[in-house]
Amino acid sequence: MMERPIGVFDSGVGGLSCVPAIKNLLPKEQIIFYGDTARAPYGSRSAEEIISFSLESAKLLTGMGCKLLSVACNTISCVALDAIKEAFPDIPVVGIINPAAKEITRLYDGKRVGLIGTEASVKSGAHEKAVLACGFKGKYFAKACPGFVPCIEAGTTESDAFEAIVKLSLDGFVKGNSLDVLVLGCTHFPFIRKHIEKLYPDLIVFDPAEALARETKRVLEEKGLLAEKSCGKDIYLASNEHETFKKFVSEIE
Ligand code: DGL
Repeated sequence: MMERPIGVFDSGVGGLSCVPAIKNLLPKEQIIFYGDTARAPYGSRSAEEIISFSLESAKLLTGMGCKLLSVACNTISCVALDAIKEAFPDIPVVGIINPAAKEITRLYDGKRVGLIGTEASVKSGAHEKAVLACGFKGKYFAKACPGFVPCIEAGTTESDAFEAIVKLSLDGFVKGNSLDVLVLGCTHFPFIRKHIEKLYPDLIVFDPAEALARETKRVLEEKGLLAEKSCGKDIYLASNEHETFKKFVSEIE
């Protein structure tokens, strides 16, 4: 059981931004990553669709023998986590929202914190509920940025035109709310972090990838599932192995 892989999944390439943190903290574990790139973005889909697609991904990974599922997707974690846990009661399922909320509260309590995510995540209110449940006492804001994910999947973010889209989408949110901290509440967004940091050099940018990795490790330990020796080579799968997927995977390997 301990030598079985861990499954990491997302709607698309976004979850790959969490893989280095997981590999770093759990170097002996074998990871099977799955991105449903053919059907991304999920963020503008209905809850029913997000749940049904997420269950298919979870089934694929459990069918490959995964001992734990680490959900490297905010949208799936916000909308479908309970459904996945219910459908796969025999293996632990780790979402990204609660570990991120704990870390945000620990690091930035009292500050003006803004989260950017998908429409489905923001509509669910799950991030806000989670930080409030952790006792966060600062000011919390959230904004959906549906324009970013399609550009990240398509690999069209290396341009001045894309930077102009980022500025147009975020200026009012960041400046109007006098944010101290911007939470990347979508796992695709670390791939455009450099644009955000260039536009807002004084802003603290928080990426929850390490929080997910730590929670994944904690749960493996708690369940006695930590690999004791190095397991097999990591496997990267996608429903559409497009150029961006191949590029991001090659940057990890
Ligand atoms: N990467 C995903 C997230 O963390 C969702 C992107 C999408 O499919 O809309 O929310």
